[in-house]
Amino acid sequence: MSDWVRVARAEEVQAETPLAVSLDDDAVVLARLGNDIFALEDLCTHDGSDISGGCIVEGAIECPRHGARFCLRTGEVLSPPAYEGLHVFPVKIEDGDVWVRDDRWD
Ligand code: FES
Repeated sequence: MSDWVRVARAEEVQAETPLAVSLDDDAVVLARLGNDIFALEDLCTHDGSDISGGCIVEGAIECPRHGARFCLRTGEVLSPPAYEGLHVFPVKIEDGDVWVRDDRWD
């Protein structure tokens, strides 16, 4: 099982603005919905764009390139042109720090 990695302070994750961080060698985007913070792969499944450059709309993150939308909670595609979802990583917040774990290979 992979270790938890501290990736940001919770106050750095603003409600309207995705935050790009690194999880070991992988790009991850953090996004806030109320008190919850979600961590998804920062790589659009449509054509490989950094999704962290997009915006947060109605509980989803929208790719800046062609507008595909992915659910922040589940990673599922809510709007094309992407058809494959994004991985959502486990997140925990301790003492104001955001920790993420890469569970893809567990
Ligand atoms: S690269 Fe993201 S929608 Fe096309």
